[in-house]
Amino acid sequence: MSTVPPDRRRATPRTLLDLKARHEPIVAVTAYDHPSAREADAAGVDVILVGDSLGMVVLGHDDTLQVTMDDMLHHARAVARARTRAMRVGDMPFLSYQADVAEAVRNAGRFLADGGMDAVKLEGGRERAATVRAVVQAGIPVMGHVGLTPQSVRALGGYRVQGATAASAGRLLDDARALEDAGCFSIALEAVPDRLAALVTGRLAIPTIGIGAGAGCDGQILVWHDLLGWEEQLAPRFVRRYATMAADARTALGTYAADVRGRRFPAPEHAYTIPDAEWELVLAGLGARADVVGTAW
Ligand code: KIV
Repeated sequence: MSTVPPDRRRATPRTLLDLKARHEPIVAVTAYDHPSAREADAAGVDVILVGDSLGMVVLGHDDTLQVTMDDMLHHARAVARARTRAMRVGDMPFLSYQADVAEAVRNAGRFLADGGMDAVKLEGGRERAATVRAVVQAGIPVMGHVGLTPQSVRALGGYRVQGATAASAGRLLDDARALEDAGCFSIALEAVPDRLAALVTGRLAIPTIGIGAGAGCDGQILVWHDLLGWEEQLAPRFVRRYATMAADARTALGTYAADVRGRRFPAPEHAYTIPDAEWELVLAGLGARADVVGTAW
């Protein structure tokens, strides 16, 4: 019998399906380390995605293509240590699943066995159906990802909305259906026109989680750094900033630097003390030591 109290039981694919059935929005956010996972969980999010956006927002790369399995597992483990109620989804990085199906299954398995994740996410539509099927058959829940798939940014010709023509909208719907048939428990829809995302959502039994896909999805996900204002340069249309963390951090760090330089920090309350009697003994002992006689001590 489980010793975890029922309200702390980890969210599962079933939880997300139930939320869809009840028309209750699914709340998802990315996180890449222990404190961010802990705070996301304390806020009650349903899904934490250790996204390969890590490469851009944490590791400073220009795109997600250089992110490795080792990068992802390192951060997945930090997130997993937060022991969240939220379901933890590990994002499979570029070339960890595209080349062959057996390698995809092995790498997906590492996210669960080494990374402490509950599920994986991978990008692509019909062309990924066989891979998704094999990973799911290995007992690993898979979240799909269609629309703007950043690992294909070179092929897509940039970060731009997908499915904005009748032909591409039809293909996107077919891709989403193929992923559902292959066994995905949910699908991320990125940068997709709102009416198309709502239509796809209505046609699928599994939940959709949108980012830049409008209000008609079953859930929403935002990247931690966008949501909290850690990222100030890029402001995609679909982001709402709920905090100004970068500006606040700069102000705090500037005040700290000024306090150190102005000798206002540390103050007496930040120091450890030694009792007077002990200190007298220290000084007396130093006076008797030949090596420190005559020094500033
Ligand atoms: O890597 C990521 O953060 C993602 C989300 C944008 C869905 O894939």
